[in-house]
Amino acid sequence: MQTVRVDLAERSYTVYIGSDILGNQHPSLDISSDSAALIVSNETVAPIYLDALTKSLAGADIHSLVLPDGESFKTEETWSKIIDKLVGIRATRDATIITLGGGVIGDMGGYAAASYMRGISFIQVPTTLLSQVDASVGGKTGFNHPQGKNLIGAFHQPNAVLVDIETLKTLPEREFSAGLAEVVKIAAIRDAKFLDWLESHAAAIMARDPEALTSMIKRSIANKADVVAEDERESGVRALLNFGHSFAHALETLTGYKQYLHGEAVATGMMVASRLSELRGFCEPGFSDRLGKLLHLFDLPLDVPGSLQIDDILETMKLDKKVIAGSARLILIKSAGHGFIDSSSDKQQIAAAITASQNNS
Ligand SMILES: NC(=O)c1ccc[n+]([C@@H]2O[C@H](COP(=O)([O-])OP(=O)(O)OC[C@H]3O[C@@H](n4cnc5c(N)ncnc54)[C@H](O)[C@@H]3O)[C@@H](O)[C@H]2O)c1
Ligand SMILES: [Zn+2]
Repeated sequence: MQTVRVDLAERSYTVYIGSDILGNQHPSLDISSDSAALIVSNETVAPIYLDALTKSLAGADIHSLVLPDGESFKTEETWSKIIDKLVGIRATRDATIITLGGGVIGDMGGYAAASYMRGISFIQVPTTLLSQVDASVGGKTGFNHPQGKNLIGAFHQPNAVLVDIETLKTLPEREFSAGLAEVVKIAAIRDAKFLDWLESHAAAIMARDPEALTSMIKRSIANKADVVAEDERESGVRALLNFGHSFAHALETLTGYKQYLHGEAVATGMMVASRLSELRGFCEPGFSDRLGKLLHLFDLPLDVPGSLQIDDILETMKLDKKVIAGSARLILIKSAGHGFIDSSSDKQQIAAAITASQNNS
């Protein structure tokens, strides 16, 4: 088993990564038998993994809540159901919530843990690649408002995160690829050697080779953990994690959140940002082609759909919360493994990068 320590003073915790974590009595699941544990999962994941997780918890006062599956259920109503369940089992301040599922379950269960009795313990068992490499580090929890994604939430760090890579065996291919986009992102902005490694191990990764997956997930988490440790509340360097995301949010919004998985939109967004980095002369020509090759090997989309109007994309980007007053604040690339915050690109330059991404099919 591999571990990564997320260093946040008294809120520090460990991420465990390996096979066969579920079903074996893991030390961090050693919950005292006089305090309650509530496993929060969904209708897709619970039938596959809930039994194994429950066995790992033998001895404790265990309850479970199985929620409907999907981002459309990441709502106040679903969060209330978790709270109602905690009240129903008379959970006290020493209760623990264990989330078993992807980012939707992790975010909502995490927020229930943040809000119930001003905060109870929380253990995350992420089962999608995206939630293993991205949502497992940083402590962001919450749910959506009809007017916007993740509008209600809090920072609440888990006590431990258990990544069992065996769970990836049942993950649909599109979801797996979407998670890989966030892996490529973290390599592109801060770890050149990791980017090389991803290129040389792309086939093993796509074959879901356990050794390759363990190394990849560990390195992604370690990189994100470093960023978060430097900037827990997202006031500085953590912005780099938004590489590709301003464009991605515009694509997601303009396609009504129906066409793209988040990671797919991020892949296309990273291509636009890379092309802009080249057009502006910030990085060597060829970087975007290199990134495109890797994203293509990972079955991710590269091109901005020709059906979208450039003006609409620009307009939507202005509304994005990551864009500060007028000037687009974008994450661009200096060289492989070196992202930076750029506020100097104007509308025409951004439009040119989007056009280049529409033509390169
Ligand atoms: N907190 C953070 O830092 C953070 C970071 C990134 C994303 N997020 C949030 O995470 C959400 C996206 O997460 P996601 O991509 O994991 O989506 P998700 O939770 O919707 O999971 C994707 C699909 O895969 C299914 N699934 C999960 N594990 C499975 C498995 N092992 N086998 C088969 N099917 C499985 C789910 O039931 C779902 O249908 C968004 O709401 C986003 O806002 C949070
Ligand atoms: Zn993302």
